[in-house]
Amino acid sequence: MTVSNSEYLHKILLSPVYEAAVKTDLVKMERLSEEFGNQIFLKREDQQPVKSFKLRGAYNRISQLSQEQLDAGVIAASAGNHAQGVAYSAKRKGIKAVIVMPETTPEIKIEAVRNFGGEWVEVVLHGTNFDAASKYSRELAAKQGYTLIPPFDDPDVIAGQGTIAREMLEQQPDIDTLFVAVGGGGLISGIAVFLKQLKPDIKIIAVESDESACLQAALQAGKPVELPSVGIFADGVAVKLIGEEPFRLCQQYVDEVITVNSDEICAAIKDIFDDTRVIAEPAGALSVAAIRKYLQANPGVKNHQIGGILCGANINFHTLRYVSERCELGEQKEVVFATQLPEKTGAFRQFCSLLGGRAITEFNYRYANPKQAHVFVGLKLREGRKEFERITQTLTAQHYPVSDLSDNEMAKLHVRYMVGGRPIGLKNERIYSFQFPEHPGALMTFLDTLGERWDITLFHYRNHGAADGLVLVGFDIPPASQGDFDQHLEQLGYLFVEQTDNPAYKFFLSDIEG
Ligand SMILES: Cc1ncc(COP(=O)(O)O)c(C=O)c1O
Repeated sequence: MTVSNSEYLHKILLSPVYEAAVKTDLVKMERLSEEFGNQIFLKREDQQPVKSFKLRGAYNRISQLSQEQLDAGVIAASAGNHAQGVAYSAKRKGIKAVIVMPETTPEIKIEAVRNFGGEWVEVVLHGTNFDAASKYSRELAAKQGYTLIPPFDDPDVIAGQGTIAREMLEQQPDIDTLFVAVGGGGLISGIAVFLKQLKPDIKIIAVESDESACLQAALQAGKPVELPSVGIFADGVAVKLIGEEPFRLCQQYVDEVITVNSDEICAAIKDIFDDTRVIAEPAGALSVAAIRKYLQANPGVKNHQIGGILCGANINFHTLRYVSERCELGEQKEVVFATQLPEKTGAFRQFCSLLGGRAITEFNYRYANPKQAHVFVGLKLREGRKEFERITQTLTAQHYPVSDLSDNEMAKLHVRYMVGGRPIGLKNERIYSFQFPEHPGALMTFLDTLGERWDITLFHYRNHGAADGLVLVGFDIPPASQGDFDQHLEQLGYLFVEQTDNPAYKFFLSDIEG
């Protein structure tokens, strides 16, 4: 369903969201503004009772229902911020809401929805993934007469999110460039359709995680296209397909799309914390990640009025371990690399002296053969990436070959913790990274399917507080049984990527004679 662009102005101006949501502050990020010589403002959607903007769209949509529809109740499929927005709205309105989530949903997310919805909410667990839960919600809606509340592809949801733009225009009318996170596109289209009609000169920049850039893919293809898979770190924006109506509005109004990686998102969580003492969730920090990236790439941009939206703060506390580990890499204040050292007394010391007193953040050393050792090094930088080029030249001239691993996800996630142990005579080892659903039984399923036929030669897992666990596994697979193995992999059904050719694996872990 589409409505005219001018009709959106009415919907936004007349929206009753303030019956449930609050008008949030727009704060100046003093530190970041100072660092880049611009005025940078942040819209504090973490101040909403559900700690994200999602309440606006859900409440506005529910407010448009007839009394009969309200009496019949509403339904939504979501384990995230949308679920909390719908649950809170239902309680506020005094109507029944059914929230469908996958059976694998962590208890903490189920609890959050129950807390916001109280007696008005029924949580139904169905299927092992989001697509199955979503299909079931549509079936239940048809069968029980519930109204489905979509997360983004709906004019009233879009208009609800658009109320943010109305507040920002009042709070800081001079903003000239606005960065907005995109998942399914509801937030940015509501904001853009309002601002671009009233202030056509404003530049609107869409920000996507590089692991779920469905708007960028759609703009390139000229129509919404489904991504084969999405990354889960920024789970609030992990959407495979941009909504139809958001796509229509984005095509018309979005000036540019910027993608950011996980390390840049972690750096932005730190930027936001440093300026406001608020901890954003990964999706909630996207706009600040893009502001830093944009201003670093365009040093001539000065004295601009720049806006970003801290759109959510529902982070699992344990994710912070990962965030703190990655933020310096994202800010380009740290690098990680591999090198070789001669196996002799004093070599480590000599190597360190070449680093010019810079702080070593990590040093994993392993004897490789009588002549040399392989080393994984983390190093703090003082002036950014350019400085690392100079360090590389110095080290290479002194016969320490440098292989930069700062962008190597497998090296950063697993290999850094496992350096050492290159076996001899393991010619048929193959390495896979897996996405394990984070629930008891996932490991047993894995072992039942693959672990009894093939020798597991390596297994590394570290909890990052996410809904899925990232695991690196090695198997000894005789070539004759590779086909059989592939069939079992298929049967397992977990997302996986083969990593046998990954240079970090080859350098630190593969057969020494291979
Ligand atoms: C914190 C956060 N940021 C951004 C988004 C993206 O919003 P949209 O799907 O409307 O693009 C979401 C969606 O749930 C979210 O929860």
